[in-house]
Amino acid sequence: MSLTSAHARFLMNCWDGEMLVTHFDAPTGSWIFIGIHSSKLGPASGGTRLMEYPNPAAALEDCLRLSRAMTLKFALPNFPRGGGKAVIATPGKLSADERTGLLLRYGRKLKQLYGLFFTGPDVGTSSADMDLLHTVAAPFIFARSVEHGGAGSSSELTADGVFHAIKATLAHLDGTDTLADRTILVQGLGSVGKRLVRLLLAENAKLIVTDINPACLGEFTAHPRVTAIGAAEVIGTSCDVYSPCALGGVLSHETVPRLNCRAVVGAANNQLVGDEAELLLQARGIVYAPDFAVNIGGALGITGIEALGWSPEHAAREVTKVGATITGILALAEAEKITPLAAATRIALGHLNSTHSS
Ligand code: PHE
Repeated sequence: MSLTSAHARFLMNCWDGEMLVTHFDAPTGSWIFIGIHSSKLGPASGGTRLMEYPNPAAALEDCLRLSRAMTLKFALPNFPRGGGKAVIATPGKLSADERTGLLLRYGRKLKQLYGLFFTGPDVGTSSADMDLLHTVAAPFIFARSVEHGGAGSSSELTADGVFHAIKATLAHLDGTDTLADRTILVQGLGSVGKRLVRLLLAENAKLIVTDINPACLGEFTAHPRVTAIGAAEVIGTSCDVYSPCALGGVLSHETVPRLNCRAVVGAANNQLVGDEAELLLQARGIVYAPDFAVNIGGALGITGIEALGWSPEHAAREVTKVGATITGILALAEAEKITPLAAATRIALGHLNSTHSS
């Protein structure tokens, strides 16, 4: 792959972040992009995403958009961290040794940045990867495994936050947050999606689940309140809440007109494709709970524990507040006749702009 697209140049002109670090990893043919979007509220922090991309421009675009979302995510509760994101774009499937070598070389870059960017897991990376990165990039790594002295995976806290966000959205719609007889469609049964399904089942919700890897449906297929559908059926399947918990880019001018739900509340980052999709959601009367407000639990909880010394109980309490935050965003959107994304962005920017930069 090579990075020569006009699209990438356009993105770099439009991005309002502080610094972009790029590196080509010759041994694996992978591109590494580290977008340091904002350090206004604290050191830029965000996950490391490692996956295949069709071309480096797509990976760069993802990095820039995701880094901005991290800034808004931390700014929303006025948490003292800035936003950033790392994207490692591999040209194809790597062997375990190639992957380890790539991560170690990436870790040495993080060390060179010396605190300009702190990272944790994201799509394609895990706490075990954070353990490895920590061997070369301490102390700039979050969410190591508990055995290696970290706070562990961020996915449980992320799922807990999504759960509270779903209940708050239903309360906004129906005046009650009861999940009994509500149908939630969870797309993506990775570590976040699985835990979310368990939490929803425990409160008697009906579930529709799907995953591109049928093996992930495993434990749920026999459950009487779970229906599995194919990945292609997601858009158009009737449900109360559609919860995208896999990759982003699911809400577009093509999919939104076909949605058959009352609300979208999910863990995936960057669910909207362009501003148009959000306006279409609003026109259709579908409530969209902004992704960065919904999926904040893991980043907030883990960073709070590891950087601010929170106890796990304190972190759990903070994650519970995701529900109240969503309630506030939806109320502001209604009162001001703006979209929920505009409302959430306004609150986050208010916190960012009331802080004096150093
Ligand atoms: N993947 C997390 C997110 O997008 C990033 C993260 C995890 C950051 C853990 C810090 C600690 O929110």
